[in-house]
Amino acid sequence: MKKILVLNGINLNMFGKRDPAQYGTITLAQIDEQVVSLGKELGYEVECFQTNSEGEMASRIHKAHEDGIAAVIINAGAWTHYSYGIADALAILKVPVIEVHMSHVHAREEFRHHSVFSNVVKGQITGFGANSYRLGLLAADDLIKGE
Ligand code: DQA
Repeated sequence: MKKILVLNGINLNMFGKRDPAQYGTITLAQIDEQVVSLGKELGYEVECFQTNSEGEMASRIHKAHEDGIAAVIINAGAWTHYSYGIADALAILKVPVIEVHMSHVHAREEFRHHSVFSNVVKGQITGFGANSYRLGLLAADDLIKGE
């Protein structure tokens, strides 16, 4: 069975408690459950990983390289807007990478409008709440099948 890795970065473990006007009240554990379940329907093993440490995130991305992951979905939180370290780690991957955000980053503060991942990801899905992850998974499925 092909594997898809869903990565969540800094502060995203606080979904459910954090700024409900932007992120709703769904927890990361519930989002993980939804993506694992949709993954199963589509015929994938989905692994979910979250960390608040940039170094740990880079190491997990390096490991995806060895693990034979077929696609990566990433919500890197605020790192999206400034972390060249994570962008460089993603650039090492040869498989499709999809960027997702719960909130509509382009309708928020200026600093959220720019993603330093833009040239290494296939595309960005932003503003659909927890559905952004499921849409990300559908996009990953499409890209994997189109290989
Ligand atoms: C976020 C958007 C980012 O700008 C923010 O820093 C986050 C969450 C989102 O999912 O909407 O932490 O990635």
